[in-house]
Amino acid sequence: MSILDCKNALAADVCRVIADKYPQAAVTEEEIAGMFEYPPDAGMGDLALPCFKLARALRSAPPKIAADLASAFDGDGAVETAEAVNGYLNIKVSSAFLRDGLLPEILAEKENYGRLHTGDGKTAVFDYSSPNVAKPFHVGHLGSTAIGHSLKLIHEFAGWKTVAVNHLGDWGTQFGKLIVAYRRWGDKAEVEAKGIDELVALYVRFHKEAEEHPELEDEARAEFTRLENGDEQNIGLWKWFIALSIEEYKKTYAQLNIEFDHYTGESFYVDKVGEVIDLLREKDLLKVDQGASIVDLEEYGMPPALILKSDGSTIYAARDLAAAIYRKRTFDFSRCVYVTSAQQSLHFAQIFKVLGLMGFDWADQMVHVPYGTVSIDGGKLATRTGNVVLLKDIFARATEKVKGIMAEKNPDLENADEVAEAVGVGAIVFHYLSNSRIKDINFVIDDVLSFEGNTGPYAQYTYARCASIIEKAGGVPADADFAGYEPQEPEKALLLELSRFPEAVADALASYEPMVITRYVLSVCAAFNRFYHECRIVGAESGEASKFRVSLTAAVKQVIGSALHLICLKTPEKI
Ligand code: ARG
Repeated sequence: MSILDCKNALAADVCRVIADKYPQAAVTEEEIAGMFEYPPDAGMGDLALPCFKLARALRSAPPKIAADLASAFDGDGAVETAEAVNGYLNIKVSSAFLRDGLLPEILAEKENYGRLHTGDGKTAVFDYSSPNVAKPFHVGHLGSTAIGHSLKLIHEFAGWKTVAVNHLGDWGTQFGKLIVAYRRWGDKAEVEAKGIDELVALYVRFHKEAEEHPELEDEARAEFTRLENGDEQNIGLWKWFIALSIEEYKKTYAQLNIEFDHYTGESFYVDKVGEVIDLLREKDLLKVDQGASIVDLEEYGMPPALILKSDGSTIYAARDLAAAIYRKRTFDFSRCVYVTSAQQSLHFAQIFKVLGLMGFDWADQMVHVPYGTVSIDGGKLATRTGNVVLLKDIFARATEKVKGIMAEKNPDLENADEVAEAVGVGAIVFHYLSNSRIKDINFVIDDVLSFEGNTGPYAQYTYARCASIIEKAGGVPADADFAGYEPQEPEKALLLELSRFPEAVADALASYEPMVITRYVLSVCAAFNRFYHECRIVGAESGEASKFRVSLTAAVKQVIGSALHLICLKTPEKI
């Protein structure tokens, strides 16, 4: 019986009263359920129905409506009190109801508590992370990686079948440059030893040298053309560069518990662009402009979408059109989600528009989820690869710092390295996902790693505290009958917070905002820590109180754990 169920039940009651007292009004239970608000001050109630929203439909004044509704609740079931105050119907949910209806449910459902079924039977494809091979996998990719994966997990939690696709940037003229650079200055052993870093270094060197020797650019173009034409040696190098890169990306992904279903990069679609071009021609959408092929989008207030270069080679947009069509055919999705920086918003608006013009009625199932820019310590931190900060470096730096803190606070911890990584990496991701995704964000590493305040370490630490309380109590009580215990105020507040988990999942899903989950975790942590300080858990005043509180702690642990997993954090049992 989560707060969603509670709202639905209340809405049914409210509708019954309306049908009785206002027979001419037409409002649905669903509409009513969506009108409930959380009062700003718990003293006013746990839920409030703003009756001015009903004034028009009921043709009556809000205070009168509120009074009519209040008189119909007689204090049984979920409602303890219902009061009409200034046009609001203020409702206090019964603690006994939360105690008996919610707590045993969380304990029984375990990791299934909070799941929704709104996505049952539907498939969603997620295109995220997608770094460009040979270019640095930098902190700007944190957005695509963390938001993308979190959205995938949230969809799964809501019943969707999901497909995770890494649309690697594995095609384009940068490979011509890399091949030239490798042949001139590269060394096999060095590349094998240093992996991506060496590839990026070669790529950076290419650009430096090309400033003085512009003929290198022609050479690179020629090598890329040979690659396009299937030159065996170039293909061999190209495949090697990609394999090396994926191997390293996977290390970063493992730190975040990410596994992709497909590493189908841009190159995968090159031979599928022909069909797209034929279709565009068939629909008379393709125009030639200064040699290049474009789709004119002026009518829709957008610049033209570039599809083919004047030499006929494919570009990013063409490969994205082919990818969308391929995915629809292969996965039969009901939703295809792309997570990239806001700089690509126009690109996706164009792609989705062109798909619509091509006659694909599923074009409206495509969703672009943009995010703002990411910088570290005010952008001052530079690395050996130039002026960008690599994602793995920032994770390593955070991990090192946590190791230092833990060596002082808990020197005997088992798996200290593993835990430090979970906390260090988690801190970065948690901080990142606690902001609205579209906002530009700057990390101040020291703040992010604090064990106090609204940080990832604080949330993980609260989880570990629950684990240790349960251990101290000798495990979770087997019997989940709490009827003999009257919850106190901090306990009721905590139960109410737990009851909101499915709603947080629904909100995060509807707004494509992992932040909703991050903030939810923080409010559960705050409610738990208040309970922890005000109520004795182990060694409580009675056996009933102790059984209830340990069980409540287990429910909190369950909910914080599930929620942290939804935002890509790991949950060590001990920190
Ligand atoms: N590789 C691109 C980049 O790093 C992101 C690709 C996004 N996905 C797509 N289907 N275009 O900017």
